[in-house]
Amino acid sequence: MTTSIATQPVALVTGAAQGVGFHIASRLHQAGYRVVVTDINVDAAQTAANQLDSSGATAMAVGLNIASKSDYQQALDAVIDRWGSVQVLVNNAAVTRATPVMEISLEEFNEVVSINLGGCFGGCQVMGAYMAEQGFGRIINMASLAGQNGGTSTGAHYAASKGGIITITKVFAKELAASGVTVNAIAPGPIESPMVKALVPEERLPGLLANIPAGRLGDADFIGDMVVQLARPEAYFTTGTTWDVNGGLFMR
Ligand SMILES: NC(=O)c1ccc[n+]([C@@H]2O[C@H](COP(=O)([O-])OP(=O)(O)OC[C@H]3O[C@@H](n4cnc5c(N)ncnc54)[C@H](O)[C@@H]3O)[C@@H](O)[C@H]2O)c1
Repeated sequence: MTTSIATQPVALVTGAAQGVGFHIASRLHQAGYRVVVTDINVDAAQTAANQLDSSGATAMAVGLNIASKSDYQQALDAVIDRWGSVQVLVNNAAVTRATPVMEISLEEFNEVVSINLGGCFGGCQVMGAYMAEQGFGRIINMASLAGQNGGTSTGAHYAASKGGIITITKVFAKELAASGVTVNAIAPGPIESPMVKALVPEERLPGLLANIPAGRLGDADFIGDMVVQLARPEAYFTTGTTWDVNGGLFMR
């Protein structure tokens, strides 16, 4: 990486105030990126950005609700205004619900799919168009094992949204390939994170671990390192893929 801050590449991560998103932002920052920490909770995003760089020189916070396409445009404009360009987008934000399938109302189903899948779609459109104009870009979408196997602890709406993310990753990858923009997905199984702790009560954890061939939860920093790898200029030949990180729960 370069030594001058002004020439450090810029990565924007959604839902980066906590959990896996914060680990991704941290690993990108450690790899030499200027990082835009975005979240629907702007105060939490600011706290997270301060943790990366309290001077603000290499980390900034921006409020971004992924359900709003105009939020992506405003965030992009704000970053270009401050740092000149963006090279990497990580569509990480999502809502996780675990309602049993027969109890999910159509409204709840549509809401979760709209936020998770619609949000990722809007981000790919806005940032993909900008990156294509620049002739370079890296988009990494957070999918999930649930999008591949239907889910275990999570709901049908969440699983459907994540399956959809794997599909639109391929669609945008084809659309943007000739413009120097790659689009890939990462599909984690259960990761050591506040979300899994919230979803799986302490007493159910041994049962969850017993079902994972690797016998333990996944590491959020490793997900961050996968993002760093996919964001490298040398990753130009990898697009439309989904990288599995699930302890052996799903093999293909
Ligand atoms: N934790 C896991 O085990 C796991 C497994 C598979 C996939 N994932 C995926 O990884 C990503 C991060 O998961 P996590 O466990 O860190 O989740 P999390 O719930 O801990 O964090 C999600 C973040 O997104 C933000 N957010 C929620 N709605 C938003 C919106 N509309 N706009 C912008 N930000 C919003 C929240 O404020 C929060 O900071 C998600 O896409 C999730 O589906 C996580």
